[in-house]
Amino acid sequence: MKKVKLGRSKIEVSALAMGTDLIGSKINQETSFNLFDFFRDNGGTLVDTANFYASWLPGCKGGESETTLGQWMKERKNRDEIVVSSKLAFDYPGCDGGLSAVEIQRECEKSLKRLQTDRIDLYYAHRDDHETPLEEIMEAFDGLVKAGKVRAIGASNLFLWRIAEANAISRIHKWSGYSVVEQRYTYLRPRHGADFGPQIFISEELKHYARIYDVALIGYSVLLQGAYTRSDREVPTQFAGPDSDERLRVLKAVASEAGCSLSQAIIAWMRQSDPPILPIIAGSKIEQLRENIAALDVTLSSDQMRLLDAAGNPVVKQGWIQPT
Ligand SMILES: NC(=O)c1ccc[n+]([C@@H]2O[C@H](COP(=O)([O-])OP(=O)(O)OC[C@H]3O[C@@H](n4cnc5c(N)ncnc54)[C@H](OP(=O)(O)O)[C@@H]3O)[C@@H](O)[C@H]2O)c1
Repeated sequence: MKKVKLGRSKIEVSALAMGTDLIGSKINQETSFNLFDFFRDNGGTLVDTANFYASWLPGCKGGESETTLGQWMKERKNRDEIVVSSKLAFDYPGCDGGLSAVEIQRECEKSLKRLQTDRIDLYYAHRDDHETPLEEIMEAFDGLVKAGKVRAIGASNLFLWRIAEANAISRIHKWSGYSVVEQRYTYLRPRHGADFGPQIFISEELKHYARIYDVALIGYSVLLQGAYTRSDREVPTQFAGPDSDERLRVLKAVASEAGCSLSQAIIAWMRQSDPPILPIIAGSKIEQLRENIAALDVTLSSDQMRLLDAAGNPVVKQGWIQPT
C-alpha cells in the first residue's frame, strides 16, 4: 500500500487507515483478526481506535477495540509495523471523560495496557473539554510526548478556533501541538446547520489551516455506512437536498467513466484533494476492505477532479450567482 507522511509529525503511515470501533465487540475476535490480517497483508499500517470503543453497545464497557488490537499485535509480533492511533475524552464505565491532566495521564496508561505496548503513535483529543484550561490540556499531552509514551498528538471533533488556539499556546511554550486533525468527511456536503452531535465535519477553513500549518487531515464515516451503494442503508438526513442530488449524479458519472465503484471514487477523490484527506476505511467483511483498498489503484484525471469538486456549486454568470 502507498505510504504518506502525517503532516509535520513526519510519521509515515499507509495511505488508508483502518477503523476499529466495532472490532472485538460487534465483530468477533476471529473476524477482527482476519480483517486486521487482510489490512496488514495489503500494506496497511495506520489503525484507528479509541479508549471507549465500543461502550455504547449492549454488554460492552469500552476498551474492547484496543484490547483486541493489542492481542492481535502481540500474537502476530508486529507492533513495530503498526501505527497505533487512539483517543480519549468521551466518558465510559470507569472514566468521567474530559481532558484534565489527570484524565489524560490515566487514560493513556489504561490504553497502553490494553494495547500491550509502551507507546501510542498518535494520541487524539476525541472531543473538546471547555472546563479544562487549554494550557493544562496541551501541557499534559506534551508530557506524554516527552515521556515517550506518545509520538504525536491530534485533535478530533474540535472547532478550528480551538485547534488554532491550542497550537498557538503550544508554540509559545515549545510544547507538542496538534499535528493531525480527524473529523467527519465524505463526498456529500452536509446541509447548512446540519447537526451531527459531537461530531464535526471538515470545513473549508480547516483545509486552509491544514495547508498553511502542514497539519494532516483524516476523515471518518467517509462511506456513510455504505449508503452510497446499498439499498439497506439510507443517506443521513443531514445531507438531504438538491446539492447532494447533484453531487450524487456527478459522482455516478465520474465513477462510471473511471471504471470504479462509487466508494472507490470517493476514496480516490479524498486522497487527490488539496489538501489530501486520508480516509479511514472500515468494514465487517473482507470483501469490503478489498474494494476499499483497491481504491488506491484509481487515479482520477484533473477533469474528473474538477467535475467532482464543482458539482452543486453555484456558477457566476454576468455578475449573478445562479444555481447550476
Ligand atoms: N473520531 C471520531 O469521532 C470517529 C467517529 C466515527 C468513526 N470513527 C472511526 O472511523 C471508522 C469508520 O467509521 P464509520 O463506520 O462511520 O465509517 P463508514 O465508512 O461510514 O462506514 C463503514 C461501514 O460501511 C460499510 N461498508 C464499508 N465498505 C463498504 C463498501 N465498499 N461497500 C458497501 N458498504 C461498505 C460497512 O458496514 P457493515 O459492516 O455494517 O456491512 C462498514 O462497517 C470507525 O471504525 C472509527 O475508527 C472516528
